[in-house]
Amino acid sequence: MTILQAVGVRKFYGAFCALDDVSLAIGEGEHVSIIGPNGAGKTTLVNVLTGLVPPSAGTVSFKGHDVGRLDPLRLSRLGMARSFQLVNIFPQLSVRETIAVAAISHLGIGGRMFAGLRKNRAVWEIVERVGSLFGFSGKLDQPAKSLSQGDKKLLDVASAFALKPEIILLDEPTSGVSTTEKSTIMQVLVQAAKQTGIKAIIQVEHDMDIVFGYSSRIIAVHNGRILADGSPEAIRAQTDVMATVVGRQ
Ligand SMILES: Nc1ncnc2c1ncn2[C@@H]1O[C@H](COP(=O)(O)OP(=O)(O)OP(=O)(O)O)[C@@H](O)[C@H]1O
Ligand SMILES: [Mg+2]
Repeated sequence: MTILQAVGVRKFYGAFCALDDVSLAIGEGEHVSIIGPNGAGKTTLVNVLTGLVPPSAGTVSFKGHDVGRLDPLRLSRLGMARSFQLVNIFPQLSVRETIAVAAISHLGIGGRMFAGLRKNRAVWEIVERVGSLFGFSGKLDQPAKSLSQGDKKLLDVASAFALKPEIILLDEPTSGVSTTEKSTIMQVLVQAAKQTGIKAIIQVEHDMDIVFGYSSRIIAVHNGRILADGSPEAIRAQTDVMATVVGRQ
């Protein structure tokens, strides 16, 4: 069953076409990697799929709802969450508080954060659960800024999980960290996705070992267009696509 669908999506920045006639459908159980060279349009695609950036043409629907008509809170309540390519850690917050901020937004407590003990308890339950899922149980009171780069990336993903998503879009969750940390991030996030019943993962990824190690499907993007969309085996066999995307055959 299709959960997330883009039909004929275009995105212009002035005269520059960042996405050109992009159509895709993501179904339950998929782990889709979006690959492509720098500037291909991968982040723009994630931004459009998550409603952060409106498409210039075409439509995006999530569980049958037009994403363009949903504000971020309603979208997250419907079950969509994301992480960002550049992690924005609030330096003054602890790990616990960082996850709590996401949990508070999920629970819709907002300005009435301290209104009811019951809701506060719900926040801390999410923090404990997500903290434990992501291996942060012993680090909850550390300042987020003191974490390793790998843990900072993981904390960003963990915060997205605090929204209790059904699908999650991750923009380069393993960029800028060591190879060892990359595989830890992947193992932890895939395990967390399994344990929480996440229906689909969409991941922008440059590291081909990760792409071919974890994806059930790969979408290759180049110059704002979908160059190829298929199984890892099918994509690997398209040497021209591989050469364009990663500069090797
Ligand atoms: N807000 C914007 N205004 C103008 N141009 C933009 C904007 N955002 C992205 N672009 C341009 O759109 C193109 C695609 O950018 P995008 O960030 O989606 O690429 P990407 O595939 O994520 O690249 P990377 O691998 O470097 O993260 C680039 O040429 C970029 O300069
Ligand atoms: Mg990007």
